[in-house]
Amino acid sequence: MARLIINGGRPLEGTIHISGAKNSALAIIVAAALATEGESVLENIPRGTDIGTICLILRNLGVEIWFDDKGLLHVKGQTLNKFQAPYDLVRKMRASFYCAGLLLARLGRAEVPLPGGCAIGSRPVDYHIRGFTQMGAEVSIEHGFMKAVAKRLQGTQIYINRASVGTTINLMIAASLAEGTTTLENAAKEPEVVDLAIFLNGMGAKIRGAGTDVIRIEGVDQLRGIEYAIIPDRIEAGTFMCATAITGGDVVLKNVVAEHLRVPIVKMEEAGIIVEKGINELRVRAPERLKAIDVETTPYPGFPTDLQQPLVACMCVAEGTSVVRETIFDRFRYVDELRRMGADIKTERETAIIRGVSQLTGAPVEITDLRAGAALAIAALAAQGETELYGVDILDRGYEHFETKLRALGADVRREVTAEGSDLFEQGYPIEV
Ligand code: UD1
Repeated sequence: MARLIINGGRPLEGTIHISGAKNSALAIIVAAALATEGESVLENIPRGTDIGTICLILRNLGVEIWFDDKGLLHVKGQTLNKFQAPYDLVRKMRASFYCAGLLLARLGRAEVPLPGGCAIGSRPVDYHIRGFTQMGAEVSIEHGFMKAVAKRLQGTQIYINRASVGTTINLMIAASLAEGTTTLENAAKEPEVVDLAIFLNGMGAKIRGAGTDVIRIEGVDQLRGIEYAIIPDRIEAGTFMCATAITGGDVVLKNVVAEHLRVPIVKMEEAGIIVEKGINELRVRAPERLKAIDVETTPYPGFPTDLQQPLVACMCVAEGTSVVRETIFDRFRYVDELRRMGADIKTERETAIIRGVSQLTGAPVEITDLRAGAALAIAALAAQGETELYGVDILDRGYEHFETKLRALGADVRREVTAEGSDLFEQGYPIEV
């Protein structure tokens, strides 16, 4: 049982390095296993536990995968030989469903557990499955698994509902080795999709249009491993921008692509935050007091749902009333925890109305999902007194060295691991990678 203890009230100051994008890394690591020649050497892979989980799944499928002592991830797909992904690992993370695209493309057969519901609402994979079916796979759902077979996937035209990021990624992976051309319409335009396309093209794929809503993938017979550096994590950057803003701080973020944060920066400026753009870096300075703003989450290039929670944390202490509309997921469960810290928030379906208070107060709170964890930590940094954050393992899934980075900026954060009663509980699943 680990928890973070944060004593609020210290302005964040200094410089931090933003890690590689978790969501890009998850897609690219799976795509790297498409290669049947050479090895991929991946740079900027963040070391959150989600990354460990995807690596372990691939290793279970026969892929050779390891981190070297410089932190570079090596992936050799030649030995991929199992088509059933292990439930115990897949259930931990929705992105593990990308293995379905990989296995169908490489082995013509995939048995992958359906990801369950999660703390941000029901997250089905029906769009992914419809895409595989349209590409000629025979798909059945049996005993909680998606079982699919296809001698070789066939290129076709697919309309992706709701511009789903995961579906776009899974179908790009699948289509890279398909016969003929696959056209993805209403494709996601997120930078992580573009990063994946650049990586796949480097491996020998023929993908055009990534970053627009029509992506064309001309299938090829073989892909080879390459060296590649993942883009910086725009969500981690946005999270630290919020943390700086709420504490009245002044922080330089290194390794940032400002273009990927265009709308969040506009919204933050509207809230009074001063953002200076440099080459691959941003300087963020907080105003005397934040101003309330209205925000709606939408697919890229709109305001990202993954920054909704960190932003709401900031709005809790802003001057005035903010209205935040969440259109992608059911993502307001965490506001109960913010209320325990003194926030004044009302939610009605997909809308949250936040009346800024002058001060939050520290409290024991529970992390309900990854970005909620970031939001609660941000609130805690500004709160008066001590906040105990329970469920830190959720935060560890997607943020590399979270508390170390905060400490480097002057925050009073420590991690406590309780061994009390450990003889009464079984050990958790070890992450070996
Ligand atoms: C990805 C990101 C996540 C981000 C989200 C939206 C990764 C690993 N995760 O999640 O951080 O918050 O994009 O930017 O990259 N949907 C269906 N059926 C499907 C697929 C999706 O109904 O088969 C729905 C979802 O429930 C959601 C919407 O479509 O309401 C968009 O989801 P999607 O873009 O697919 O999100 P993820 O890829 O899961």
